[in-house]
Amino acid sequence: MAKRPEWLDSAVFYEIYPQSFKDTDGDGIGNINGITEKLPYIKELGCTAIWMNPCFDSPFGDAGYDVSDYCKVAPRYGTNDDLVHLFDEAHRLGMHVLLDLVPGHTSWEHPWFKESMKAERNEYTDRYVWTDSIWERPEGYGSLRGISERDGSCAVNFFTHQPALNYGWYKPSRPWQQAMDSEGATATREAMKDVMRFWLSRGCDGFRVDMAGSLVKNDEDGKGTIALWQNVRAFLDEEFPEAAMVSEWGEPRQSLAGGFHMDFLLHFGESHYNDLFRCGKPFFGGKGDASAFVAKYIDSYERSQRRGLICIPSGNHDMDRLARHIKGDARKLAFAFLLSMPGAPYIYYGDEIGMNYVEGLRSVEGGYGRTGSRSPMQWDSSANAGFSSAPAEKLYIPIDPDPARPTAKAQMKDADSLRSEVKKLIGVRQAHKALQSLGEIEFVCDGAPGKPLAYIRSSGDERILVIVNPTDNTADITVNGTPGETVYSFGGAPVISGNSVRINGGSAAFVKI
Ligand code: GLC
Repeated sequence: MAKRPEWLDSAVFYEIYPQSFKDTDGDGIGNINGITEKLPYIKELGCTAIWMNPCFDSPFGDAGYDVSDYCKVAPRYGTNDDLVHLFDEAHRLGMHVLLDLVPGHTSWEHPWFKESMKAERNEYTDRYVWTDSIWERPEGYGSLRGISERDGSCAVNFFTHQPALNYGWYKPSRPWQQAMDSEGATATREAMKDVMRFWLSRGCDGFRVDMAGSLVKNDEDGKGTIALWQNVRAFLDEEFPEAAMVSEWGEPRQSLAGGFHMDFLLHFGESHYNDLFRCGKPFFGGKGDASAFVAKYIDSYERSQRRGLICIPSGNHDMDRLARHIKGDARKLAFAFLLSMPGAPYIYYGDEIGMNYVEGLRSVEGGYGRTGSRSPMQWDSSANAGFSSAPAEKLYIPIDPDPARPTAKAQMKDADSLRSEVKKLIGVRQAHKALQSLGEIEFVCDGAPGKPLAYIRSSGDERILVIVNPTDNTADITVNGTPGETVYSFGGAPVISGNSVRINGGSAAFVKI
């Protein structure tokens, strides 16, 4: 099993989209020093770690997921020294920082790609996935063609301007498809280790890895990509055993085998994450159905040897804001769930105050429909919600125009606010090992229509029954054990009789058993 940093087991993460968090130099876009300035705010909430979206040099065709220099902070965010200062300050406050590693593709403006496009063979010829004729496309992938002297088509991973780096093919079947252990594929892997080495040796605590499961091509069940990450794992165990690795993969059985510590539950594919938060009838809206989610979760849990290391985010820069679909106090119930599940919880900046999806925005930097979830953090009621001193029309993305928009400052003063509830829930999680990452989970009720979600979290002798009931119905949950102390409740105290616990509709309770 992978060596692991101990802090990860009780970590609660806060995800920061650097563009939109805090601008300290008045240019209308957030920066690294702004994040450093706001670390005490994040700590006060109870979060112990942050994940920052990419902050590296880039032409920003995909908000920085199109890197043109992995080892240089984009000037608009500051300097490498500013980032190192952020690491130092975070550590001083007892916090940790994950950077976003994008190993699958670069920008087409990356110097590697410019070299790779040349007709003459050079060090970077095999850095990307190329066919050997402009007329042949890499089947199963999008491609770039007709833009280079080189005769060939280059596979792309996401947008057209993101050519795929070459980690080889699981089973090469065409002459141009390189094996995983070919010289070109090996060189790419080693170059990515150098990038990791660069930041880890400067104080970064690990990485959230973008599209981690898609590196080796035609690798249907992930065997090649798992082997690739195992190789990286051996390097980390040797040189940086304290580095934390969290994957955007969505298949813990594969990612944990590859040596990742935790995996993300994704909002696409078969996860049923959207059944809970973002669909016509989301479970936390009170009328939905969580049972397919529970079935899939249990399946992943069992297949990863009951290592419940699936991180469930409140949202992220790729999906609708939670508040677009879940209204009022139901958001508190959503957080009661998020903050009592295994794996590390991730709070997307602003979700703790119920920031809204800003409707009708023009796409910014490849955001398209995602742009509305990337608007500036709302700190207070001053100009630009305290985000920036720039004129409003110069902001990276406009502030939510709603005059009733929530702010961090107002919610910090209000004991009944969403933020106060989130803070309380983080405190309860931090005080009980059973509720943290490595605690086991056993479902007692699967949130089928009209029913609550209920599960028992346990670690050593500590067992806690969690019931989250966004429905209108009173719920009775019977357990094998004796319900005792209530460690958290919202929406009315639970009523305990014998081995059963009754809670109201629209409420949540955590009860020791
Ligand atoms: C991931 C990122 C997303 C990005 C894509 C391509 O899914 O979260 O924002 O556009 O990868 O790198």
